[in-house]
Amino acid sequence: MLYWAPSVRKLFIIGIGAGNRDHITVQAINALNAVDVFFAIDKGDEKAELIRVRQEICETYIKDKSYRTVAVPDPERDRKPSSYRSAVKDWHERRAVIFEKMIARELNDGECGAFLVWGDPSLYDSTLRIVQQILARGVVEFTYEVIPGVSSVQALAAAHKISLNQIGAPVHITTGRNVADGFPDDFDNLVVMLDANCAFKAVKETDIDIYWGAYVGTKDEILIAGDLRQVAGDIEKIRSAARARKGWILDTYLLRKRDRR
Ligand SMILES: C[S@@+](CC[C@H](N)C(=O)[O-])C[C@H]1O[C@@H](n2cnc3c(N)ncnc32)[C@H](O)[C@@H]1O
Repeated sequence: MLYWAPSVRKLFIIGIGAGNRDHITVQAINALNAVDVFFAIDKGDEKAELIRVRQEICETYIKDKSYRTVAVPDPERDRKPSSYRSAVKDWHERRAVIFEKMIARELNDGECGAFLVWGDPSLYDSTLRIVQQILARGVVEFTYEVIPGVSSVQALAAAHKISLNQIGAPVHITTGRNVADGFPDDFDNLVVMLDANCAFKAVKETDIDIYWGAYVGTKDEILIAGDLRQVAGDIEKIRSAARARKGWILDTYLLRKRDRR
């Protein structure tokens, strides 16, 4: 009997870890080896070093190097919008149209494409939202699979040798922008990402420890931990010097109420 199966396009959304190529999972390596086309967004200002990590991962873990790479320019984004949410939503919609065209043009029936996502795709990354938007538009068809990666938050906790929560206590993950809009009155463990302005300076309470890390997992990793009041100034100075030296910085931190439980 002859069975006919339509040759469906497939997309992998692969978490690649936050800068340490040894943080890649076996599942990610297997997916990388099934990929025909890697899709990338050319952010123009993206740091050469971060692009190199992606290239190194492909060169190290892919056996058959016959894959193709396709990059498209990122659409312009309004950096000073009146509404942050609607500006980001609009930008994602424009990205979805670009991705859609790229997939339709570059991925043949039966082929497998991939987006490599920094850290883990579930955490402050728009790729999944955009892929779901493309499918909802109904112009191109594909199946997709998400491969988890080690996020910068997990890498930070491991580097400081801490768990993110105390026994049974919650962990809240947020952004520097949210913290700047109003520091939460009550928290046990607060992880802050995407913080360009050292939002921890706004903390008034005295019984807080900070576990801060920049370039975590990479050769340039910097870690500082201690009583927030005592180390906040040092972190600010060291952060600003590192940023000036390298031209960019990626940093994340955990704020923890001391002796809460
Ligand atoms: C757009 S978010 C992406 C997060 C990513 N999906 C993850 O799972 O870590 C970028 C933020 O992640 C954090 N980050 C990413 N890589 C990092 C690293 N190697 N060290 C410290 N923080 C990092 C920083 O807070 C940065 O502003």
